[in-house]
Amino acid sequence: MVSKQTRSRRQVGIKCFNVESEAELERISRIASELGVVAPISLRVNPDVDPKTHPYISTGLKESKFGIPMDQALQLYRTAQTLTGIAIKGIDCHIGSQITQLAPYLDALDKMFELIDQLADQGIALEHFDIGGGMGVRYEQEPDFPLQALSDALQQKMADRDLRVILEPGRYIIANAGVLLTEVLYTKHNATRAFAVVDAAMNDLIRPALYDAVQAVHPVVEQFNPSGHFEIVGPICEAGDFLAKHCLIDLEQGALIALATSGAYGMSMSSNYNTRCRAAEVLVHGGHAQLIRRRETIQDLLAAETNLDTSTTAPNLTTTSTIRAR
Ligand SMILES: Cc1ncc(COP(=O)(O)O)c(C=O)c1O
Repeated sequence: MVSKQTRSRRQVGIKCFNVESEAELERISRIASELGVVAPISLRVNPDVDPKTHPYISTGLKESKFGIPMDQALQLYRTAQTLTGIAIKGIDCHIGSQITQLAPYLDALDKMFELIDQLADQGIALEHFDIGGGMGVRYEQEPDFPLQALSDALQQKMADRDLRVILEPGRYIIANAGVLLTEVLYTKHNATRAFAVVDAAMNDLIRPALYDAVQAVHPVVEQFNPSGHFEIVGPICEAGDFLAKHCLIDLEQGALIALATSGAYGMSMSSNYNTRCRAAEVLVHGGHAQLIRRRETIQDLLAAETNLDTSTTAPNLTTTSTIRAR
């Protein structure tokens, strides 16, 4: 699988492979040699800094699976110099996502520049330094990410180095461009809580369940003195199927609500869990709304399944052909 990806990436001509391990480097070298091409590579180094974000999106701590440990990086660059089909182009790191503070970046930059200097001393000159992404956005109360301060610090640390800087911002570009629209199917109350059961669920937006993420909820029709206090939940049979824990707006059956900041890691992390068809996507541009992805159908979900060979099928397996794993 990885080999296939590596081959096709070479065929389309990508700028650089960000390599995560010695084994991956060797595989790229072998495939590039077989194809008679030279693969541009960068080593993703793990600088061991705490990005102060959710543990599931912290990627730059030394115990995490990501990157090459700092103390192995120099040796691996030396190995890369000896491999056929490999051209060393750069170095990269990505310490995590939804980072709201500057300090983790500064720590990472200092450690990475130290390594870059050691490499230069060994005659390994790099063309670029890819500092990754991770710049946090405002989901609810988060402060604005200090982009200007990061830019100033980076410029100062770059001084007169002949290095090109690459960034990989993902959510910072797109998160606030998207909302998840959903309708209240029912409201219900128990002794302690009020729930609004909506027609979206954790398969449509998994961030609350996965990361305990909080995203602002807005009523589609403006409310002036709301007094509600609802937990917004989906119809899936999981206690983790919630979209917002404390929604302070008035809700009744049929109300439309928008979960803000769903433009990143919303649709891309959505799934067909519980045989749910993924939502339609509508692009609003200049006051004009256009369907850019139709809602999925049950036929779409079943299209990739293969009929059982009935001659070898046990009689009681005729109604269900899918094995569901949780
Ligand atoms: C290597 C790498 N770069 C960049 C990103 C983008 O991260 P973000 O959307 O937090 O900026 C990711 C996200 O997983 C990543 O793994």
